[in-house]
Amino acid sequence: MERTFAMIKPGAVRAGHADKILKMIVDNSFTIIAQKEIQLTKELAEQFYAVHKERPFFGELVEFIISGPVVVLVLEKEGGIRAWRDLMGATDPAQAAEGTIRKMYATSIGANAVHGSDAPETAAEELKLIFPELD
Ligand code: RTP
Ligand code: MG
Repeated sequence: MERTFAMIKPGAVRAGHADKILKMIVDNSFTIIAQKEIQLTKELAEQFYAVHKERPFFGELVEFIISGPVVVLVLEKEGGIRAWRDLMGATDPAQAAEGTIRKMYATSIGANAVHGSDAPETAAEELKLIFPELD
């Protein structure tokens, strides 16, 4: 079993899509190990997205992710990191495959509904940052 970090971003929470996305997660045989709704601080968001700090969209990215509550999740499944990325779909919703969360609920590349860790190292870092209460 492999754990990954997932987030339902503010745009999707605001639009009332969180419950439908959570149902897709359960229907796709992920186990939800932990779940909470939180408001990220600017400091935490800048740390979370530190890998993108030189990118031209960094400021917008941070402002968007702190623009309202997010639902953060610890998910577990065999090959969970890849499986969650596959269910999310491509970063740009215009490129996302039918049936993926981003195809269904993302409105733009910035407001793309969900986040998922992209490798074991980033999953471990993100889980530690957002769920410090879990080992
Ligand atoms: P995420 O980290 O949110 O799961 O998304 P990702 O791996 O598919 O994409 P990544 O390359 O890590 O980019 C992080 C987030 O930055 C925003 N982005 N905006 N305006 C742009 O060209 C642009 N490119 C990326 C997206 O919101 C993306 O999810
Ligand atoms: Mg990423």
